[in-house]
Amino acid sequence: MYLVIGASSFIGRHLYNYCKARGIDIKGTYYSHPYDAEWIKFDVCLDDLEELCYNYLNGKVPEAIILCGANANIDECKRNEEASYLLNVSGTKKILAKANKLGIKSVFLSSEAVFDGRKGMYTEEDIPNPITLYGRQKLQIEQYMIENLNDYLIFRISRATGSSFGEKDIFDDFYSKIVNQEEIVCLKNQSFSLTEVDDITSGIIGALECRLTGLYHVSSNNFVSRYELANLYADKIFGGYEKIMEKEYGKFDFWDNRHIYGGLRGDKLTHLLGMQYLTIIEILEKYLHSYERRISSMIN
Ligand SMILES: NC(=O)c1ccc[n+]([C@@H]2O[C@H](COP(=O)([O-])OP(=O)(O)OC[C@H]3O[C@@H](n4cnc5c(N)ncnc54)[C@H](OP(=O)(O)O)[C@@H]3O)[C@@H](O)[C@H]2O)c1
Repeated sequence: MYLVIGASSFIGRHLYNYCKARGIDIKGTYYSHPYDAEWIKFDVCLDDLEELCYNYLNGKVPEAIILCGANANIDECKRNEEASYLLNVSGTKKILAKANKLGIKSVFLSSEAVFDGRKGMYTEEDIPNPITLYGRQKLQIEQYMIENLNDYLIFRISRATGSSFGEKDIFDDFYSKIVNQEEIVCLKNQSFSLTEVDDITSGIIGALECRLTGLYHVSSNNFVSRYELANLYADKIFGGYEKIMEKEYGKFDFWDNRHIYGGLRGDKLTHLLGMQYLTIIEILEKYLHSYERRISSMIN
């Protein structure tokens, strides 16, 4: 059995549903969004993993915990430094230490933010050099796991997206700006590797089922800038949109820095699992079908 801590997160929900759909035994927790009646409330900062196993899993320990509960917002982490440290670092370490003591494998979702964003499309061999607090917090956990845990998987992610209309993802951001006739303002050259969230979940579960350990990039090679992606989206769904623009770094009021050229090479995991990622065209095609289905169901 797997336990997703933060099954209410964007990626956690997909992990949970992916396993449920395949008959893989999985349990989930939430913090403030109990989207599923089967989940139990769990606060990474305050609650104890052993008690959770005792109360919720009838004393059984899961084979692995997948940690999705985190503050993943670069500016929020910086603005609330103490609170983000409690969740992303000290609370997370406490859960990982307890999992290790109980003989549970730990799966941690890290980020391309561990890199400085000067080069782009980083491999697992590239040396991290975070330029944001969020990136430093992620790197602290990676290092803690490598130095202290017996059995772990670290997955770095660049940019996850859904391929269904209405998900809370980058497409939804573009969609709401377009329907409200607002400008889509993109940071100049900010790029990432766009990866369909169910490809991410299949990589994570595939690695667990194959009993892999270590650090992997779970990422497609769909390297794209936010600006290019906004245009691709607008062309595909709306036949174009004129209010998409790129602006220089200095025009934004960020609380923390931004890595510009992100993106992760996922070849190491791809070769081990024999998996294939959807291309941007395929992701947009799936999204368009789901959008059209939604529109026609609203009309009928
Ligand atoms: N999405 C991406 O493109 C991306 C890229 C790189 C890395 N990652 C990493 O992948 C993981 C999941 O990301 P996501 O985008 O799916 O996350 P998300 O949608 O932002 O969700 C955050 C999750 O954290 C939970 N949470 C907040 N405070 C908590 C607390 N005190 N105790 C326990 N859980 C708490 C939330 O629970 P409630 O909603 O119930 O409050 C929610 O499940 C994160 O570690 C993130 O850094 C994501």
